[in-house]
Amino acid sequence: MAIYAANWKMNILPSQVQELVTGIVDHKLSDSDQVILCPPSVYLQEAVNLTSQSQVVIGAQNTYFEVSGAYTGEISAKMVAELGATYVIVGHSERRQLFGDNDQIINKKVLATLEASLSPIICIGETLEQRESGDFYTVLESQIVSAVSGHETVLSAADFLIAYEPVWAIGTGKVASPEQAQDVHAFIRSRLESIFNEKKISILYGGSVKPSNAGELLLQQDIDGFLVGGASLSVADFTAIMSA
Ligand code: PGA
Repeated sequence: MAIYAANWKMNILPSQVQELVTGIVDHKLSDSDQVILCPPSVYLQEAVNLTSQSQVVIGAQNTYFEVSGAYTGEISAKMVAELGATYVIVGHSERRQLFGDNDQIINKKVLATLEASLSPIICIGETLEQRESGDFYTVLESQIVSAVSGHETVLSAADFLIAYEPVWAIGTGKVASPEQAQDVHAFIRSRLESIFNEKKISILYGGSVKPSNAGELLLQQDIDGFLVGGASLSVADFTAIMSA
């Protein structure tokens, strides 16, 4: 079984949504595989409608941590849940770097997502500088701990995913080698097991995943699937990743 999540980011025009979603829905999946499409929020309803008769489910790329109120421009997890979506990406490195999503905000967003009965896809990952400093496991550990802190009980009873996305591999064409990714995934797994008492949590890899590197990455023991950016904007590439 593998999980294939698509992060369209701020791409795709209204006229392109149907073709992209139905192209992915039409791809034959094995019963145990799971596909999660995360379009820009303006397309969430359409994506939910287009996938309602399929195994494909829909997620938002971001939600605010308050339920409602005077927060111009934001959307709440409850809105996303009522539309029929099931996942929310939380803590993507672009949100951390460009929109000020710090550890405290991410922690609140994880809780808000769970309170709306949505499943968070919690993203963690080190920058190139942090990797080269050699101490990036401390960075990853602190990202995990700060995202889940205080919510361990509710997370234990919920579905959620972790996505390991090295920042230096996102959108750069520079993918982590299967060994590099496996080492980090094994580390994340052991940390999660100690926090969540052996609960089985799927860990996705993200960062320049393509049809040409997906197969080898997925062979790694602790890689349970992918969070795909650029290559998820093409039916041919994303379905090739799903077949890899
Ligand atoms: P990429 O993006 O596949 O384009 O590197 C991955 C992500 O940011 O989720």
